[in-house]
Amino acid sequence: MTAVLVTGGAGYIGSVVADQLLARGHDVVVLDDLSTGHRAAVPSGVTFVQGGIGDRAALDALFDQHRVGAIVHLAAYALVEESVKNPEKYRRNNVAAAQVLLDAALTAGVRRFVFSSSCTVYGYPPVVPIPEDAPLAPVSPYGETKLAFERVLGTYASQHGLSSVTLRYFNASGATELRGEDHDPESHLIPNVLGVALGKKSAVDVFGTDYPTPDGTAVRDYIHVDDLADAHVRALDVPSNGAIALNLGTGLGSSVRQVVEAARRITGHAIPVTDRARRPGDPPELVAAPHRAATVLGWRPRRSSLEEILGSAWRWHRAHPRGYRT
Ligand SMILES: NC(=O)c1ccc[n+]([C@@H]2O[C@H](COP(=O)([O-])OP(=O)(O)OC[C@H]3O[C@@H](n4cnc5c(N)ncnc54)[C@H](O)[C@@H]3O)[C@@H](O)[C@H]2O)c1
Repeated sequence: MTAVLVTGGAGYIGSVVADQLLARGHDVVVLDDLSTGHRAAVPSGVTFVQGGIGDRAALDALFDQHRVGAIVHLAAYALVEESVKNPEKYRRNNVAAAQVLLDAALTAGVRRFVFSSSCTVYGYPPVVPIPEDAPLAPVSPYGETKLAFERVLGTYASQHGLSSVTLRYFNASGATELRGEDHDPESHLIPNVLGVALGKKSAVDVFGTDYPTPDGTAVRDYIHVDDLADAHVRALDVPSNGAIALNLGTGLGSSVRQVVEAARRITGHAIPVTDRARRPGDPPELVAAPHRAATVLGWRPRRSSLEEILGSAWRWHRAHPRGYRT
């Protein structure tokens, strides 16, 4: 049996992907340099290799040692603000190093690739819900790196016969019993809201209260990490010879105020907010048109109601108040 290589498998989403692959009988190798991930998040049933996706010699050794049949590539830097301050760091890791991985994989005969992209590739979308054929016009260096690597995959499909499925996640959120979100710094709304309920901070910043949305705050499409992981496992079976891109979202948006309200109900905490100015590069509304993923993968979100997302994240954060250090 061939193994699935999961890059970034010590991270928030990658660790859940690794769990689900193991649960469905796959052999799994995780490659992660632990730059933002946690050794404790790596499932015990995988082979763990600590290393970088840009290290060609280490990759050749890995492909020599393990018969890899497919790669799920999640390893990347993923902080939009940091990418604005240091775009080179993002280009080096998310594009240049990722291409080293791709070249090593092709040399080793791997022809199947699943890639973590992001709704940031759409920038300020002219139409919401956003279909996959919407204009691709990222507004941050982070989004640009995701689009640049999508394009590399397109070129490799036609030139090298690589079959790839690009998954454009909307807002990954929620937790499983074992794994949750532990980033430093944490830029995502839900862990920050729950951090206030846990007493780590006194209030949540609400960036932008004058957007053209029903309550003036930004609207996002929250998708449970378990649903995301399920889509990756299905993507490995897509009978494709080229490069295809799929949105992973629910098709429904929630505003920042709606998320805070739901978190108040679930935690029983008042969760004070501080209204702030809009952040540059934050579109008013990002909601997926999710139909292509439903058709191609036979995939439907099952755990992505706001209640389930917040309830599962709340259970995890209460059990792990210091994240994976607990
Ligand atoms: N979290 C979201 O809402 C979201 C949304 C859209 C897309 N994504 C994408 O999903 C992927 C995973 O995101 P996440 O939230 O789990 O992030 P994360 O930071 O928790 O996980 C990324 C993992 O990749 C590892 N890594 C980074 N660079 C590496 C390298 N050069 N070599 C080896 N390992 C390396 C890190 O140590 C970490 O374990 C990323 O590609 C991200 O861009 C995330």
